[in-house]
Amino acid sequence: MSTTLTATPGSTALRPGAFGNAVGLTCRACGHQQELGPFYACLECFGPLEVSYDFPEITRARIEAGPKNIWRYQPLLPVPSDITASRNMEPGYTRLVEADNLARALGIRKLWVKDDSGNPTHSFKDRVVAQALSAARELGMTVFACPSTGNLANAVAAAGARAGIKTVVFIPHDLERPKVLTTAVYGGTLVAVKGNYDDVNKLASEIAGEEEGWAFVNVNVRPYYAEGSKTLGFEVAEQLGWRLPQQVVIPVASGSQLTKVDKSFGELTGLGLVEDSPYRIFGAQAAGCAPVASAFKDGYDVVRPVRPDTIAKSLAIGNPADGPYVLDTVRRTGGAVEDVTDEEVREGITLLARTEGIFAETAGGVTVATLKKLVEAGRLDPDAETVVFNTGDGLKTLDAVADRVGPTATIESSYADFTAANLI
Ligand SMILES: Cc1ncc(COP(=O)(O)O)c(C=O)c1O
Ligand SMILES: [Zn+2]
Repeated sequence: MSTTLTATPGSTALRPGAFGNAVGLTCRACGHQQELGPFYACLECFGPLEVSYDFPEITRARIEAGPKNIWRYQPLLPVPSDITASRNMEPGYTRLVEADNLARALGIRKLWVKDDSGNPTHSFKDRVVAQALSAARELGMTVFACPSTGNLANAVAAAGARAGIKTVVFIPHDLERPKVLTTAVYGGTLVAVKGNYDDVNKLASEIAGEEEGWAFVNVNVRPYYAEGSKTLGFEVAEQLGWRLPQQVVIPVASGSQLTKVDKSFGELTGLGLVEDSPYRIFGAQAAGCAPVASAFKDGYDVVRPVRPDTIAKSLAIGNPADGPYVLDTVRRTGGAVEDVTDEEVREGITLLARTEGIFAETAGGVTVATLKKLVEAGRLDPDAETVVFNTGDGLKTLDAVADRVGPTATIESSYADFTAANLI
Protein backbone atom coordinates (compact mmCIF):
# COMPACT_ATOMS: atom_id res chain seq x y z
CA MET A 1 0.00 0.00 0.00
CA SER A 2 1.27 3.46 -0.85
CA THR A 3 1.77 6.05 1.87
CA THR A 4 0.33 8.85 -0.25
CA LEU A 5 -3.12 10.05 0.66
CA THR A 6 -5.21 9.88 -2.48
CA ALA A 7 -8.92 9.67 -1.68
CA THR A 8 -10.96 12.86 -1.41
CA PRO A 9 -11.06 14.08 2.18
CA GLY A 10 -14.39 13.20 3.70
CA SER A 11 -15.25 10.94 0.78
CA THR A 12 -16.93 7.65 1.67
CA ALA A 13 -15.67 5.95 -1.53
CA LEU A 14 -13.50 3.42 0.24
CA ARG A 15 -11.34 0.87 -1.52
CA PRO A 16 -12.63 -2.68 -0.97
CA GLY A 17 -11.30 -4.14 2.28
CA ALA A 18 -10.10 -0.73 3.53
CA PHE A 19 -11.28 -1.66 7.02
CA GLY A 20 -10.70 -5.41 6.91
CA ASN A 21 -13.60 -7.40 8.38
CA ALA A 22 -15.28 -4.29 9.78
CA VAL A 23 -18.74 -3.79 8.28
CA GLY A 24 -20.08 -0.65 9.91
CA LEU A 25 -20.24 1.76 12.81
CA THR A 26 -22.75 1.14 15.59
CA CYS A 27 -23.91 3.78 18.07
CA ARG A 28 -22.98 2.75 21.60
CA ALA A 29 -25.89 4.76 22.99
CA CYS A 30 -28.86 3.87 20.73
CA GLY A 31 -27.59 1.02 18.54
CA HIS A 32 -28.15 2.93 15.26
CA GLN A 33 -26.02 1.51 12.42
CA GLN A 34 -23.98 3.66 10.07
CA GLU A 35 -21.66 2.94 7.18
CA LEU A 36 -17.90 2.98 7.64
CA GLY A 37 -16.39 6.39 7.00
CA PRO A 38 -15.00 9.50 8.67
CA PHE A 39 -17.73 9.46 11.31
CA TYR A 40 -17.49 9.47 15.08
CA ALA A 41 -20.92 10.60 16.30
CA CYS A 42 -24.29 8.94 15.75
CA LEU A 43 -26.50 10.68 13.18
CA GLU A 44 -29.55 9.94 15.37
CA CYS A 45 -28.39 10.81 18.89
CA PHE A 46 -24.78 12.10 18.65
CA GLY A 47 -23.68 9.09 20.74
CA PRO A 48 -20.17 7.61 20.26
CA LEU A 49 -19.70 5.11 17.45
CA GLU A 50 -18.09 1.70 17.69
CA VAL A 51 -16.70 -0.47 14.89
CA SER A 52 -18.71 -3.64 14.22
CA TYR A 53 -17.51 -6.68 12.28
CA ASP A 54 -18.61 -9.71 10.37
CA PHE A 55 -15.81 -12.11 11.26
CA PRO A 56 -14.98 -15.11 9.10
CA GLU A 57 -13.59 -18.19 10.84
CA ILE A 58 -10.30 -17.13 12.49
CA THR A 59 -7.98 -19.78 13.86
CA ARG A 60 -5.24 -19.66 16.49
CA ALA A 61 -2.85 -21.08 13.90
CA ARG A 62 -3.50 -18.20 11.52
CA ILE A 63 -2.81 -15.64 14.26
CA GLU A 64 0.28 -17.50 15.50
CA ALA A 65 1.71 -17.51 11.96
CA GLY A 66 1.45 -13.70 11.80
CA PRO A 67 4.09 -11.05 12.52
CA LYS A 68 5.30 -10.46 16.10
CA ASN A 69 3.37 -7.21 16.43
CA ILE A 70 -0.29 -6.14 16.54
CA TRP A 71 -0.84 -7.00 12.87
CA ARG A 72 -1.02 -10.72 13.76
CA TYR A 73 -4.59 -9.74 14.84
CA GLN A 74 -5.37 -7.96 11.55
CA PRO A 75 -8.56 -10.02 10.93
CA LEU A 76 -9.91 -8.66 14.24
CA LEU A 77 -9.04 -5.02 13.55
CA PRO A 78 -10.42 -2.32 11.21
CA VAL A 79 -7.37 -2.40 8.95
CA PRO A 80 -6.79 -3.84 5.46
CA SER A 81 -5.19 -7.24 4.93
CA ASP A 82 -2.14 -5.54 3.34
CA ILE A 83 -1.51 -3.41 6.46
CA THR A 84 1.95 -4.90 6.99
CA ALA A 85 3.08 -3.36 3.70
CA SER A 86 2.42 0.17 4.98
CA ARG A 87 4.98 2.28 6.84
CA ASN A 88 3.98 2.16 10.48
CA MET A 89 5.57 1.66 13.89
CA GLU A 90 4.70 -2.05 14.16
CA PRO A 91 3.83 -1.86 17.86
CA GLY A 92 2.72 -4.62 20.20
CA TYR A 93 3.71 -8.13 21.18
CA THR A 94 5.09 -6.71 24.42
CA ARG A 95 6.15 -8.88 27.35
CA LEU A 96 3.77 -10.57 29.75
CA VAL A 97 5.99 -10.80 32.81
CA GLU A 98 5.43 -13.44 35.46
CA ALA A 99 5.50 -11.21 38.56
CA ASP A 100 6.15 -13.68 41.38
CA ASN A 101 8.02 -11.20 43.59
CA LEU A 102 5.29 -8.58 43.37
CA ALA A 103 2.68 -11.32 43.87
CA ARG A 104 4.43 -12.40 47.07
CA ALA A 105 4.72 -8.81 48.30
CA LEU A 106 0.99 -8.30 47.80
CA GLY A 107 -0.19 -11.75 48.90
CA ILE A 108 -1.52 -12.71 45.46
CA ARG A 109 -1.27 -16.30 44.22
CA LYS A 110 -0.57 -15.67 40.53
CA LEU A 111 0.22 -12.27 39.02
CA TRP A 112 1.41 -11.05 35.62
CA VAL A 113 2.49 -7.62 34.44
CA LYS A 114 1.58 -6.75 30.86
CA ASP A 115 4.51 -4.43 30.20
CA ASP A 116 3.56 -2.06 27.41
CA SER A 117 6.48 0.25 28.07
CA GLY A 118 8.23 -1.92 25.47
CA ASN A 119 6.39 -0.30 22.57
CA PRO A 120 8.30 1.88 20.06
CA THR A 121 7.51 5.16 21.86
CA HIS A 122 7.25 3.43 25.24
CA SER A 123 3.52 3.39 25.87
CA PHE A 124 0.40 1.52 24.73
CA LYS A 125 -0.53 4.54 22.61
CA ASP A 126 1.48 3.17 19.68
CA ARG A 127 -1.22 0.50 19.36
CA VAL A 128 -4.13 2.91 18.97
CA VAL A 129 -2.20 5.35 16.81
CA ALA A 130 -1.38 2.57 14.33
CA GLN A 131 -5.12 1.96 13.80
CA ALA A 132 -5.82 5.68 13.45
CA LEU A 133 -3.02 6.06 10.90
CA SER A 134 -4.49 3.29 8.78
CA ALA A 135 -7.96 4.87 9.00
CA ALA A 136 -6.57 8.31 8.12
CA ARG A 137 -4.89 6.85 5.04
CA GLU A 138 -7.95 4.92 3.91
CA LEU A 139 -10.16 7.97 4.42
CA GLY A 140 -7.81 10.20 2.45
CA MET A 141 -7.01 12.52 5.34
CA THR A 142 -3.86 14.59 5.04
CA VAL A 143 -3.02 15.84 8.54
CA PHE A 144 -2.41 13.52 11.49
CA ALA A 145 -3.23 15.26 14.76
CA CYS A 146 -4.21 14.82 18.41
CA PRO A 147 -4.84 16.48 21.73
CA SER A 148 -2.68 14.60 24.22
CA THR A 149 -1.75 14.12 27.87
CA GLY A 150 1.75 13.18 26.66
CA ASN A 151 2.10 9.60 25.51
CA LEU A 152 -0.26 10.04 22.59
CA ALA A 153 1.79 13.06 21.52
CA ASN A 154 4.92 10.85 21.34
CA ALA A 155 3.11 8.16 19.38
CA VAL A 156 1.46 10.48 16.84
CA ALA A 157 4.63 12.47 16.18
CA ALA A 158 6.72 9.32 15.69
CA ALA A 159 4.16 7.48 13.53
CA GLY A 160 3.68 10.57 11.37
CA ALA A 161 7.43 10.94 10.89
CA ARG A 162 7.76 7.32 9.85
CA ALA A 163 4.74 7.45 7.53
CA GLY A 164 5.77 10.80 6.02
CA ILE A 165 2.50 12.50 7.02
CA LYS A 166 2.21 16.01 8.45
CA THR A 167 1.52 15.96 12.20
CA VAL A 168 0.04 18.60 14.50
CA VAL A 169 0.07 17.74 18.19
CA PHE A 170 -1.66 19.77 20.93
CA ILE A 171 -0.57 19.40 24.58
CA PRO A 172 -1.29 21.21 27.86
CA HIS A 173 1.52 23.76 28.37
CA ASP A 174 2.54 22.31 31.77
CA LEU A 175 3.23 18.77 30.59
CA GLU A 176 6.30 16.91 31.97
CA ARG A 177 9.40 18.17 30.14
CA PRO A 178 10.55 14.70 29.00
CA LYS A 179 7.20 14.15 27.27
CA VAL A 180 7.52 17.48 25.48
CA LEU A 181 11.06 16.68 24.30
CA THR A 182 10.23 13.10 23.29
CA THR A 183 7.48 14.50 21.07
CA ALA A 184 9.37 17.48 19.62
CA VAL A 185 12.32 15.29 18.63
CA TYR A 186 10.25 13.66 15.86
CA GLY A 187 9.59 17.01 14.17
CA GLY A 188 6.11 18.04 13.11
CA THR A 189 4.13 20.84 14.70
CA LEU A 190 3.82 20.80 18.50
CA VAL A 191 1.41 23.29 20.05
CA ALA A 192 1.48 23.93 23.82
CA VAL A 193 -1.93 25.23 24.86
CA LYS A 194 -2.47 27.37 27.95
CA GLY A 195 -5.05 25.17 29.61
CA ASN A 196 -5.55 21.63 30.92
CA TYR A 197 -6.17 18.53 28.82
CA ASP A 198 -9.91 19.08 28.71
CA ASP A 199 -9.34 22.59 27.27
CA VAL A 200 -6.93 21.13 24.71
CA ASN A 201 -9.44 18.45 23.77
CA LYS A 202 -12.19 21.04 23.28
CA LEU A 203 -9.93 23.07 20.99
CA ALA A 204 -9.10 19.92 18.99
CA SER A 205 -12.81 19.14 18.50
CA GLU A 206 -13.36 22.68 17.23
CA ILE A 207 -10.47 22.44 14.76
CA ALA A 208 -11.66 18.99 13.62
CA GLY A 209 -15.04 20.54 12.82
CA GLU A 210 -13.51 23.41 10.82
CA GLU A 211 -10.51 21.94 8.98
CA GLU A 212 -11.00 19.47 6.12
CA GLY A 213 -8.85 16.36 6.04
CA TRP A 214 -7.52 16.51 9.59
CA ALA A 215 -7.46 13.16 11.36
CA PHE A 216 -7.52 13.87 15.09
CA VAL A 217 -6.74 10.33 16.14
CA ASN A 218 -8.75 10.37 19.37
CA VAL A 219 -11.51 12.71 18.18
CA ASN A 220 -12.81 12.26 14.65
CA VAL A 221 -11.20 8.87 13.89
CA ARG A 222 -11.74 7.69 17.46
CA PRO A 223 -13.89 4.63 16.59
CA TYR A 224 -10.97 3.14 14.63
CA TYR A 225 -8.25 4.41 17.00
CA ALA A 226 -9.94 2.86 20.04
CA GLU A 227 -9.94 -0.62 18.48
CA GLY A 228 -6.14 -0.69 18.89
CA SER A 229 -6.50 -1.25 22.64
CA LYS A 230 -8.15 -4.61 21.91
CA THR A 231 -4.70 -5.90 21.00
CA LEU A 232 -3.66 -5.66 24.66
CA GLY A 233 -6.41 -8.13 25.52
CA PHE A 234 -5.65 -10.38 22.53
CA GLU A 235 -1.98 -10.54 23.51
CA VAL A 236 -2.65 -11.29 27.17
CA ALA A 237 -4.96 -14.18 26.21
CA GLU A 238 -2.54 -15.57 23.62
CA GLN A 239 0.46 -15.21 25.97
CA LEU A 240 -1.43 -17.07 28.70
CA GLY A 241 -1.76 -19.96 26.25
CA TRP A 242 -5.12 -18.93 24.76
CA ARG A 243 -7.14 -18.35 27.89
CA LEU A 244 -8.55 -15.36 29.71
CA PRO A 245 -7.16 -14.12 33.04
CA GLN A 246 -9.60 -14.08 35.96
CA GLN A 247 -8.87 -10.46 36.93
CA VAL A 248 -7.33 -7.49 35.12
CA VAL A 249 -6.36 -4.08 36.53
CA ILE A 250 -6.25 -1.29 33.93
CA PRO A 251 -5.52 2.46 34.21
CA VAL A 252 -8.35 4.80 33.23
CA ALA A 253 -8.01 8.21 31.60
CA SER A 254 -10.67 8.51 28.87
CA GLY A 255 -11.61 4.92 29.72
CA SER A 256 -11.23 3.68 26.15
CA GLN A 257 -8.54 1.10 26.88
CA LEU A 258 -10.53 -0.59 29.63
CA THR A 259 -13.68 -0.96 27.55
CA LYS A 260 -11.75 -2.28 24.55
CA VAL A 261 -9.94 -4.95 26.57
CA ASP A 262 -13.40 -6.15 27.59
CA LYS A 263 -14.47 -6.10 23.91
CA SER A 264 -11.39 -8.13 22.98
CA PHE A 265 -12.20 -10.83 25.52
CA GLY A 266 -15.76 -10.99 24.17
CA GLU A 267 -14.54 -11.34 20.58
CA LEU A 268 -12.03 -14.07 21.46
CA THR A 269 -14.77 -15.99 23.25
CA GLY A 270 -17.30 -15.43 20.46
CA LEU A 271 -14.86 -16.74 17.87
CA GLY A 272 -14.02 -19.81 19.97
CA LEU A 273 -10.36 -18.76 20.26
CA VAL A 274 -10.56 -19.01 24.06
CA GLU A 275 -12.90 -20.86 26.35
CA ASP A 276 -15.74 -18.80 27.76
CA SER A 277 -14.62 -18.12 31.33
CA PRO A 278 -15.59 -15.39 33.81
CA TYR A 279 -13.28 -12.41 34.27
CA ARG A 280 -13.43 -9.26 36.35
CA ILE A 281 -12.13 -5.89 35.12
CA PHE A 282 -10.87 -3.27 37.57
CA GLY A 283 -10.12 0.38 36.74
CA ALA A 284 -7.37 2.49 38.32
CA GLN A 285 -7.32 6.28 38.71
CA ALA A 286 -5.34 8.89 40.64
CA ALA A 287 -7.24 10.52 43.50
CA GLY A 288 -6.43 13.92 41.97
CA CYS A 289 -8.41 12.96 38.87
CA ALA A 290 -10.88 10.25 39.78
CA PRO A 291 -14.20 11.11 38.15
CA VAL A 292 -14.91 7.48 37.20
CA ALA A 293 -13.86 6.03 40.58
CA SER A 294 -16.09 8.60 42.32
CA ALA A 295 -19.08 7.74 40.13
CA PHE A 296 -18.46 4.04 40.76
CA LYS A 297 -18.35 4.51 44.54
CA ASP A 298 -21.41 6.77 44.53
CA GLY A 299 -23.38 4.27 42.45
CA TYR A 300 -23.92 6.72 39.55
CA ASP A 301 -23.98 5.76 35.87
CA VAL A 302 -22.95 9.21 34.70
CA VAL A 303 -19.57 10.77 35.38
CA ARG A 304 -19.28 14.26 36.82
CA PRO A 305 -16.26 16.11 35.34
CA VAL A 306 -13.47 17.21 37.68
CA ARG A 307 -10.49 19.58 37.43
CA PRO A 308 -7.39 17.32 37.54
CA ASP A 309 -4.61 17.83 40.06
CA THR A 310 -2.24 14.85 40.15
CA ILE A 311 1.30 13.82 39.28
CA ALA A 312 -0.25 11.15 37.01
CA LYS A 313 -0.60 13.61 34.15
CA SER A 314 -1.07 10.92 31.50
CA LEU A 315 -4.32 9.96 33.25
CA ALA A 316 -5.41 13.55 33.91
CA ILE A 317 -8.64 13.62 31.90
CA GLY A 318 -11.30 15.32 33.99
CA ASN A 319 -14.15 14.66 31.57
CA PRO A 320 -13.58 11.11 30.28
CA ALA A 321 -15.39 10.25 27.04
CA ASP A 322 -15.78 6.57 27.89
CA GLY A 323 -16.49 7.04 31.60
CA PRO A 324 -20.06 5.66 31.56
CA TYR A 325 -18.94 2.64 29.53
CA VAL A 326 -16.19 1.93 32.05
CA LEU A 327 -18.83 1.93 34.79
CA ASP A 328 -20.99 -0.51 32.75
CA THR A 329 -18.02 -2.80 32.13
CA VAL A 330 -16.70 -3.01 35.69
CA ARG A 331 -20.21 -3.46 37.11
CA ARG A 332 -21.13 -6.15 34.56
CA THR A 333 -17.93 -8.12 35.20
CA GLY A 334 -17.99 -7.72 39.00
CA GLY A 335 -14.94 -5.43 39.13
CA ALA A 336 -14.50 -1.96 40.64
CA VAL A 337 -12.83 1.40 40.00
CA GLU A 338 -10.50 2.58 42.76
CA ASP A 339 -8.23 5.60 43.15
CA VAL A 340 -4.93 6.21 44.92
CA THR A 341 -3.08 9.27 46.23
CA ASP A 342 0.02 10.71 44.57
CA GLU A 343 2.09 9.33 47.45
CA GLU A 344 0.68 5.85 46.76
CA VAL A 345 1.49 6.35 43.05
CA ARG A 346 5.14 6.99 43.94
CA GLU A 347 5.15 3.92 46.17
CA GLY A 348 3.55 1.89 43.36
CA ILE A 349 6.36 2.90 40.99
CA THR A 350 9.12 1.89 43.41
CA LEU A 351 7.34 -1.30 44.49
CA LEU A 352 7.14 -2.52 40.87
CA ALA A 353 10.72 -1.44 40.17
CA ARG A 354 12.11 -3.16 43.27
CA THR A 355 10.16 -6.39 42.95
CA GLU A 356 10.19 -6.93 39.18
CA GLY A 357 12.80 -4.61 37.68
CA ILE A 358 10.13 -2.75 35.72
CA PHE A 359 10.25 1.04 35.80
CA ALA A 360 6.73 2.34 35.20
CA GLU A 361 5.57 5.85 34.54
CA THR A 362 3.03 7.42 36.88
CA ALA A 363 0.13 5.62 35.13
CA GLY A 364 1.78 2.29 36.01
CA GLY A 365 2.29 3.54 39.56
CA VAL A 366 -1.43 4.30 39.74
CA THR A 367 -2.28 0.81 38.53
CA VAL A 368 0.08 -1.10 40.82
CA ALA A 369 -0.97 1.01 43.82
CA THR A 370 -4.63 0.40 42.96
CA LEU A 371 -3.98 -3.34 42.72
CA LYS A 372 -2.43 -3.21 46.21
CA LYS A 373 -5.35 -1.22 47.61
CA LEU A 374 -7.93 -3.56 46.06
CA VAL A 375 -6.22 -6.64 47.53
CA GLU A 376 -5.93 -5.04 50.96
CA ALA A 377 -9.59 -4.05 50.86
CA GLY A 378 -10.61 -7.59 49.89
CA ARG A 379 -12.14 -6.34 46.61
CA LEU A 380 -9.74 -8.32 44.44
CA ASP A 381 -9.50 -12.07 44.98
CA PRO A 382 -5.86 -12.91 45.88
CA ASP A 383 -6.40 -16.50 44.75
CA ALA A 384 -7.55 -15.58 41.24
CA GLU A 385 -5.01 -15.20 38.43
CA THR A 386 -4.49 -11.48 37.86
CA VAL A 387 -2.93 -9.32 35.16
CA VAL A 388 -1.90 -5.73 35.93
CA PHE A 389 -1.12 -3.34 33.08
CA ASN A 390 1.97 -1.16 32.94
CA THR A 391 1.12 1.10 30.01
CA GLY A 392 4.07 3.53 30.01
CA ASP A 393 7.77 4.02 30.79
CA GLY A 394 9.20 5.57 33.97
CA LEU A 395 11.92 7.41 32.06
CA LYS A 396 9.25 9.87 30.87
CA THR A 397 8.16 10.80 34.40
CA LEU A 398 11.44 10.79 36.33
CA ASP A 399 10.35 13.73 38.48
CA ALA A 400 7.78 11.52 40.19
CA VAL A 401 10.54 9.59 41.98
CA ALA A 402 13.34 12.18 41.95
CA ASP A 403 12.91 12.97 45.66
CA ARG A 404 12.64 9.33 46.73
CA VAL A 405 15.60 7.64 45.05
CA GLY A 406 19.28 8.41 44.63
CA PRO A 407 22.75 7.09 45.49
CA THR A 408 22.96 5.04 48.70
CA ALA A 409 26.14 6.93 49.62
CA THR A 410 28.71 9.28 48.10
CA ILE A 411 32.27 8.34 49.07
CA GLU A 412 35.90 9.16 48.29
CA SER A 413 37.59 6.73 45.91
CA SER A 414 39.41 4.72 48.56
CA TYR A 415 38.77 1.25 49.98
CA ALA A 416 38.94 2.72 53.49
CA ASP A 417 36.15 5.13 52.68
CA PHE A 418 34.10 2.35 51.16
CA THR A 419 34.36 0.15 54.27
CA ALA A 420 33.78 3.14 56.56
CA ALA A 421 30.47 3.81 54.77
CA ASN A 422 29.21 0.42 56.07
CA LEU A 423 27.30 -0.43 52.93
CA ILE A 424 27.43 -4.23 53.07
C1 LIG B 1 0.39 5.55 29.96
C2 LIG B 1 -1.10 5.64 29.82
N1 LIG B 1 -1.83 4.67 30.35
C3 LIG B 1 -3.18 4.68 30.27
C4 LIG B 1 -3.86 5.69 29.65
C5 LIG B 1 -5.36 5.66 29.64
O1 LIG B 1 -5.93 5.47 28.41
P1 LIG B 1 -7.46 5.67 28.09
O2 LIG B 1 -7.62 7.11 27.69
O3 LIG B 1 -7.72 4.73 26.98
O4 LIG B 1 -8.24 5.37 29.34
C6 LIG B 1 -3.14 6.74 29.07
C7 LIG B 1 -3.84 7.82 28.39
O5 LIG B 1 -3.33 8.80 27.98
C8 LIG B 1 -1.71 6.71 29.16
O6 LIG B 1 -0.95 7.68 28.63
ZN1 LIG C 1 -27.23 6.90 18.59
